[in-house]
Amino acid sequence: MDRIQKLIAQSGLCSRRKAETLIEEGRVRKNGEVVQTLGTKASKTDTITVDGRTIVYEEKEYFLFYKPEGCVSTTDDEKGRKTVLDFIRTNARIYPVGRLDYDTSGALLLTNDGELTNQLTHPSNHIEKVYEVTVDGLLRKETSRKISQGIRIDGEKTKRAKIHDVAYDPEKSKTKLTFIVTEGKYHHVKRVFEAVGHPVKKLKRTRFATLTLEGLRKGSYRRLTPHEIKKIRLLVQERQNKKARK
Ligand code: URA
Repeated sequence: MDRIQKLIAQSGLCSRRKAETLIEEGRVRKNGEVVQTLGTKASKTDTITVDGRTIVYEEKEYFLFYKPEGCVSTTDDEKGRKTVLDFIRTNARIYPVGRLDYDTSGALLLTNDGELTNQLTHPSNHIEKVYEVTVDGLLRKETSRKISQGIRIDGEKTKRAKIHDVAYDPEKSKTKLTFIVTEGKYHHVKRVFEAVGHPVKKLKRTRFATLTLEGLRKGSYRRLTPHEIKKIRLLVQERQNKKARK
């Protein structure tokens, strides 16, 4: 027996928190009876409905995709552009964990595990993302230092970040670097370098949490191994324990 909000989240319909709201709003039924108490438990043999629709428990699927440039990370696109789902063969209702821009390539996790998605994208869990960035011009040491310590963008200070492997190409007047961040805001990397006068020319994510691009070609994907799923869950658990201790 599990709490109903947990079962709803496990079905991939929404997060556990959203499920709690649905329960409070009286939109959830267990075997036909409206449930409005958050502690109510049920098992997978009970019929749980949300707004009259029965929830189904999908097997959880996890894919690591080497997203190429030229596709969007949404599940459908109003402009009819290629989406990341066009590359992956599955009947499961998977979606990307976070986003990469149309012109960004790199590591993208796709899953139908709503709980893990929420945990990996929640800012307080500080999940690391590593980018290979090429920016316009010569990025000076003091600018790198400033970025690492946090800069103001639209009145908000960015979190600490790491920059290393900085290489300047004088012929092309471009700097290539590795950027390690825990933030996942919209256009975060581009906005950071734009703010210091070095627009991003090329962006590739080489690592998301524990997952790297090793062994993948651009446009290809693979399923995560049980060990990788365990490792990523463990990482999230560690972050949550750390928060709880604070
Ligand atoms: N930051 C960006 O600016 N773009 C991405 O695609 C990812 C992070």
